[in-house]
Amino acid sequence: MSTPGGTHPTLEILLDRMWSDYVGLNPIARRIHQLLADRGESVVNDHIAFRTFDLPRVSIDVLAKPFIERGYAERGTYEFPEKKLVARHFEATEPGLPKIFISQIRVATLPRDAADLIARLLESVSDAHPSQPDFFVAGRLWPLSFGEYQRLAASSDYAAWVAAFGFRPNHFTVDVNALRTFGSLADLDAFIKQSGFALNASGGEIKGSPGELLEQSSTMANLIDVTFSDGTHRIPACYYEFARRYPGPDGRLYQGFIAASADKIFESTTRGQ
Ligand code: NI
Repeated sequence: MSTPGGTHPTLEILLDRMWSDYVGLNPIARRIHQLLADRGESVVNDHIAFRTFDLPRVSIDVLAKPFIERGYAERGTYEFPEKKLVARHFEATEPGLPKIFISQIRVATLPRDAADLIARLLESVSDAHPSQPDFFVAGRLWPLSFGEYQRLAASSDYAAWVAAFGFRPNHFTVDVNALRTFGSLADLDAFIKQSGFALNASGGEIKGSPGELLEQSSTMANLIDVTFSDGTHRIPACYYEFARRYPGPDGRLYQGFIAASADKIFESTTRGQ
């Protein structure tokens, strides 16, 4: 048995740490979670998403390892050519646990100065670091100036996000199927907006359709003050996502992801929206 704070914490402890880190950066998620609880809902988490670079020391393989060791297996791969991303999703064998969605940006496809900057940032990550169980709540492990963040953002919002926030959950996702007091994702979205939160409207508020077996929407990332090496600046952090799944031909709820929808969801952290 693992003990809290031990060298091999249980999945439950890791998930708690991820949620704490995430709501610390995204208090909107805590407020929406509370609003749902106040209606008598018990919120189930559909998936947790991580972002990284495709460099060997921090690739999807590396981030997935603690989950694989705790009973997760890969169940899908996805391509996002326009955003220069690939992603994979992992499912637990045990029911009731969130899926894990990890994407990575192809650093070599970025402009040379951006790729060089990312390689330099990664020099601060030791070989031993990614094997620590808390790696995926480690946050940013390198010094970064606001000018460097802006230079990366000019090539890729995604790369700039990872550079600014490091290794930690990008979003958690409410399992809409598990809610009892909402008949549809549109009903939930209306409630979220009435409660004063903005939704990501890129590609329409609801991405996907019953025919695609998955509908998703998300809040826009909230802006938070981030300390850079040369001062503090307000930038987009994390967002909260909502997913409703439909049964496939086998009668089971579809558990995968739709690349075209996720492509728009990624824009929830785009600046200036
Ligand atoms: Ni997601």
